[in-house]
Amino acid sequence: MKNRKLLMIPGPTPVLRSIQDEMGRETVAFGDSEFVADFQQLINDLKEMWSCDGMAFVVAASGTYSMEMALVNNLKRGDSLLIVSNGFFGDRFIEIAKKKGYTYDVLSASWGHVVSAEEIAEQLKKKTYDAITVTHVDTSTGAVAPVHEIGQVLKNFPETIYIVDGVCSVAGEPVDMMKDHIDVLFSGSQKAFGVAPGLALLWAGKKSLERRESLPEVIEYYADYKKWAPVMDDTKKYFATPAVNMTWAMKKSVDIIKEEGLENRYERHRRNAEAMRAALEAMGFKILADASCRAVTLSNPLYPEGVDDGEFRLELEKQGVQVAGGLGEYAGKMFRIGHMGNVDEHELAATICAIEKTMAKLLPSFKVGSGITAFLKSLCRE
Ligand SMILES: Cc1ncc(COP(=O)(O)O)c(C=O)c1O
Repeated sequence: MKNRKLLMIPGPTPVLRSIQDEMGRETVAFGDSEFVADFQQLINDLKEMWSCDGMAFVVAASGTYSMEMALVNNLKRGDSLLIVSNGFFGDRFIEIAKKKGYTYDVLSASWGHVVSAEEIAEQLKKKTYDAITVTHVDTSTGAVAPVHEIGQVLKNFPETIYIVDGVCSVAGEPVDMMKDHIDVLFSGSQKAFGVAPGLALLWAGKKSLERRESLPEVIEYYADYKKWAPVMDDTKKYFATPAVNMTWAMKKSVDIIKEEGLENRYERHRRNAEAMRAALEAMGFKILADASCRAVTLSNPLYPEGVDDGEFRLELEKQGVQVAGGLGEYAGKMFRIGHMGNVDEHELAATICAIEKTMAKLLPSFKVGSGITAFLKSLCRE
C-alpha cells in the first residue's frame, strides 16, 4: 500500500475533511437564504478578525487577482507607487505596475533579507507616493517583512495608501489592519486559511474606499470595488456569481480559526516553524531567510553538498510528501516547504521522517534520526 500524499508545498496546503465537506455540499442558489446568511457572516467575521474599518471582499479568483484589485482601486495611470520587493512575488508588482502605466520606484532586498522600515522612511521623505506595496511573506524566500514597523512609518505619510500582500501570511503570521496601520490587505484561500485554491480575499480600509471614490472610472470591470461593494454590504445582491461551495469552505475555515483563537493560531505557527527549522538544520539544510526575518508559514531550506534537487523531490514524493522547488536563482538549490494553515504536528513529524528516508537514500553519510530528534526536542522544550 502506498502512503497518503502529504501536501507540504507552501500553498495549497492540506484541506481538513470538515472544510472539504463544505465543498462537497449540494450547491444551492446564490440567493438561497441560508447561503446569503453564511456569506454575510463570513464577510463580517473577516472584517472583525483583521480589524477592517472599511469593507472585506471575497471573490472567485486567485491571489494575483487581489494584487491587481488592490492596485487598480487605489491608483490611476501615471500615479506613483513605491514597490518594496523582497523576492519573486514582490517583483510581480513591478510587472503589474508596468502594464497599468503607474510611475514606480522599487526598494529591494537581496533574497533572504527584507527592506527595513528605516529604508522605507528615507525613501518616503525623498518623494511623495500615492501608494506603497509590501509583501508580508515572500514565498520565494520565506522572509517576513516588518509590516507593523512600516505601518508606524506610514502614519506620517497619510497621502500614501499602504497595501500589504498577505497571500502567504494572513491567518498564520500576526497582522492587524488597525494596529499595523494598513489600508489594503489581501490574501487567498489556499495558504494559511487551509482552503482549496479559488478565492481571493481583500480588505479595504476606509482610506482606500475613499481613494476609490476620488479616482476617475476604473477600467477593470471584475476588479472594481464599486461593482462588488453592494454585494459585500448585502450578500443577497448579485454582481457576478459567487463561488457558493468555496464560500462555505471559507466560512468553515474562519469558524475553525475562531474556535482556535487567532493568538493561539499564531503561537502554534511560531512553535511549529521553530521545530520544523530545528529539524531541517539538524538534517544538514541551511535556511535561506536570515534568522532576523524568518516567516512562520514556510521555510526555504538550501540543500547540503551532494544532494540533487530533482532526485530529492522525486524520492520525497515517492515517500509520500510533496514540497515545492526553489524560484529564480535558487531553482535547483533549495526547496520550499509550507507549515501553515491546519497542518498539525503529526503531519510535520511524518514529513520530517519522509525527508530523513529520502536523505538516507541520497546521502550515505546521512545520520537517520537527526531531524525527528531535533523536532521533538524543540516541541518538548516549549
Ligand atoms: C506572497 C504571494 N503573493 C501573491 C501570490 C500569487 O497568488 P496566486 O498564485 O494565488 O495567484 C503568491 C502565490 O504563491 C504569493 O505567495
